[in-house]
Amino acid sequence: KVVVLDFGGQYNQLIARRIRDLGVFSELISNKITAAELKEMAPKGIIFSGGPGSVYADGAPQCDPEIFDLDIPVLGICYGMQLMTHHFHGNVEAANHREYGKAVINVQSDSLLFKNLPREQSVWMSHGDLVKAPPEGFQTDAVNVSCPVAAMSDENRKLYGVQFHPEVQNTEYGNDMLHNFIYDVCGCDGEWSMENYIDMEVEKIRENVGSKKVLCALSGGVDSSVVAALVHKAIGDQLICMFIDHGLLRKGEADSVMKTFGEGFDMNLVKIDAQDRFLGKLAGVSDPEEKRKIIGNEFIYVFEEEAGKLENVDFLAQGTLYTDIIESGTDTAQTIKSHHNVGGLPEDMKFDLIEPLNTLFKDEVRKVGSELGLPDEIVWRQPFPGPGLGIRVLGEITDEKLEIVRESDQILRDEIKRAGLDKHIWQYFTALPDMRSVGVMGDERTYDYTVGVRAVTSIDGMTSDWARIPYDVLEIISTRIVNEVKNVNRVVYDVTSKPPSTIEWE
Ligand code: XMP
Repeated sequence: KVVVLDFGGQYNQLIARRIRDLGVFSELISNKITAAELKEMAPKGIIFSGGPGSVYADGAPQCDPEIFDLDIPVLGICYGMQLMTHHFHGNVEAANHREYGKAVINVQSDSLLFKNLPREQSVWMSHGDLVKAPPEGFQTDAVNVSCPVAAMSDENRKLYGVQFHPEVQNTEYGNDMLHNFIYDVCGCDGEWSMENYIDMEVEKIRENVGSKKVLCALSGGVDSSVVAALVHKAIGDQLICMFIDHGLLRKGEADSVMKTFGEGFDMNLVKIDAQDRFLGKLAGVSDPEEKRKIIGNEFIYVFEEEAGKLENVDFLAQGTLYTDIIESGTDTAQTIKSHHNVGGLPEDMKFDLIEPLNTLFKDEVRKVGSELGLPDEIVWRQPFPGPGLGIRVLGEITDEKLEIVRESDQILRDEIKRAGLDKHIWQYFTALPDMRSVGVMGDERTYDYTVGVRAVTSIDGMTSDWARIPYDVLEIISTRIVNEVKNVNRVVYDVTSKPPSTIEWE
């Protein structure tokens, strides 16, 4: 594998991502790792990422200098190259002005990094400092108008540096450079694929678990489903899955989970019917944050109680993804958001954790899921918040309101699918504002609920735009909801992006 040392740059995740796409396992690790620890990991190559700092600044992120003595190839990108230069007593200075955006470089050596690539090519720059002169033993491989050293190398020691960002798409031949580095310089063999990954993890889980038992809280979402399928493949009936029905699921969801996993996969699946318990606690509560807290806490209580009834369970399997770890902040990357998952379990539980997806990105998890034989509805399931319909019934939650959301949501799902839009829209659902309005049905005045339809496009849920659903599809959705769902006489479509709105209404 190839490791990426994280110096805080905004594209760091992408570096690991690109390398995996090229067929070699790669992960981002803290720059605080020692040379001894790295040696233990035995990577075939090391990449120093970019970062916002200046190597001369107080508190600038450093690395263990002995890393350069490990005899492992290093590629320094941007800050990484400046750090390497600084370490070998080359000359790093502040540039006259920050260079940001597209630039053209001229390659002027036979460096392996540029093997089979054109002499002139466009790259993506983003830096304040630059390398004025390469350290002793290094040659200048490429230049551009503002950088006397746009790329450098010491091929004897297999040390390479580039001032630009090969990992971003705007660098025309960036992927080829990374390819050259991992295959030609590092000599990797390119065996990383989802099938291999599954075999590897299955082996690891078996070894780790032995003849003990593993518990997994299955929600029916993509991540927990894939974990369950993977652990099940490894240890079969030693896995116990627990599915808690909190009464805030979409129509048909509980049955479909039971069918897929209980029957389809023949898993050891325990269903906990906790609807009354959750709805009882939520009665009379209308504040959104309070509702979230109640649902989250209650989930933990129920889980602890039920887990306590099981005997000899030593491990807990969780669907933590790589991005969950990164977003919760590595040493250097800034915390983007703290995760608020209803499956977030208490820290003092006496289980050892198994997190077999924690090196994967979301789309890789989907591939693993398909490979393991999970149906498309699960692998391509849209995101669903932990607190479920509890935050889609605005204000106080009642059975009547839950029913309206469930029924209208089902109609929306049907029609989106029928229109062939289901894989193009990130998330679509109905919400029930706590309001009524006047209407007329069959010559009679009505005073009934309004259903809000929300459909958004997004890459990661952090920002989103409202989906441009064709008017005729909206028309069918509206007509069907008013006709088929009791106590509804109006449908509105939410046309706000995030920001300033959020995707969910609470
Ligand atoms: P918002 O409403 O914050 O939602 O724009 C962004 C994405 O996160 C989902 N979401 C949640 N997921 N627990 C979750 O597991 C929650 O409390 C929660 N709140 C929102 C939301 O559905 C969207 O995909």
